[in-house]
Amino acid sequence: MIDETLVQREAAAVMPTYRRQHVAFVRGEGASLWDADGRRYVDCMAGISMNNVGHCHPAVVSAIAEQAGRLINVSNLYYTEPMVALAEWIRDHALGGRSFFCNSGAEASEAALKLARKHGGPGRTEVVALVDGFHGRTYGALSMTGQPSKQEPFAPLVPGVRHVDRDDPAGLEAAVGDRTCAIVLEIVQGECGVHPVPLEMIRLARELADRHGALLVIDEIQTGLSRTGPLFAFQDIGIVPDVMCLAKSLGGGVPIGAVTARPEFDAVLQPGDHGSTFAGGPLACAAALASCAVLADADLQQSVRVKGAALLADLEGLVTDGLATEARGRGLMTAVDLPLPRAAEVVESMLAEGYLVNNTSARTIRMLPPLVIDGDDLDALTVTLRRVLTAL
Ligand SMILES: Cc1ncc(COP(=O)(O)O)c(C=O)c1O
Repeated sequence: MIDETLVQREAAAVMPTYRRQHVAFVRGEGASLWDADGRRYVDCMAGISMNNVGHCHPAVVSAIAEQAGRLINVSNLYYTEPMVALAEWIRDHALGGRSFFCNSGAEASEAALKLARKHGGPGRTEVVALVDGFHGRTYGALSMTGQPSKQEPFAPLVPGVRHVDRDDPAGLEAAVGDRTCAIVLEIVQGECGVHPVPLEMIRLARELADRHGALLVIDEIQTGLSRTGPLFAFQDIGIVPDVMCLAKSLGGGVPIGAVTARPEFDAVLQPGDHGSTFAGGPLACAAALASCAVLADADLQQSVRVKGAALLADLEGLVTDGLATEARGRGLMTAVDLPLPRAAEVVESMLAEGYLVNNTSARTIRMLPPLVIDGDDLDALTVTLRRVLTAL
């Protein structure tokens, strides 16, 4: 399964910030991954929703190869065609305004925060975000992340961020005021175990943002790019944000993030306000253009809805049979809660069976397969999960 010397070398040379599973991959295609011994695994995590197009999608591979042979990066001192084309694509498919490019989800959160703070000016420095939300691990992003265990070792954080429970409209109403520059939320909170934010809360956030002159920032870093069915999760609920954050699957596996906004906010960030050396480079943008073209396909999106509904129905069957206590899902973003805090063992057993899933807590198993996964692999996933849970 893994060369133990690799594990030892990693331990000696890499800071231990990750609890890795005991496997190393050498090749991927679609929803399949292979270890060095040639054993196939079914990827039901897509790199935490980073590979919505699947591994090594031919369109992404050829875009990268073609661009790599021509120009990899040249910095933001100069114009490059792929960045402009990607910004146009995002403008035409999302909020109609301009984008800022960065290299990761956390950086997209940072850029959204800076945009909202600059737009709000010195009198509006507060942000309202949701408990259990996740927006990244850099200081601004971590400050908006509503998970104290991730924040506590790094206090003090960026001041002025309040967190409200996702099902507390009265709390949201009380938290937002004339000093609020942004309300930041995910449509489905991914990192805490796939919890959809009630529509009523999102509607109220839109209303409060309008009432108080704050920006509604929707983090679609995990939900976006057809993960839940529509290209962006907000498109299924009829609420349009002012600002949206993207990353993860945008680059088909290559690091890239973006913040995009409605046209009213096109000129908030001016030369010198923000930047990043690598950001929006031709290689990442060429990969992103190829990835986005695959993910915007209506047939693919319809298949996400159909496969997601079938997967959720199978997971609900686990609940009916007492093997799980709750199943949640939207499109191919799914999770089940277990009756006992044994999710880590389940993840290990699933790996031994050849399936990659992860646990977001001691009781919750999350599944985010590549959107191109075929129905047989999904059926086998739930059959295997049922067997593993029955054997616990
Ligand atoms: C909703 C959301 N926002 C932000 C991030 C941070 O992205 P990154 O890990 O690329 O910094 C993540 C990562 O899991 C996420 O799920």
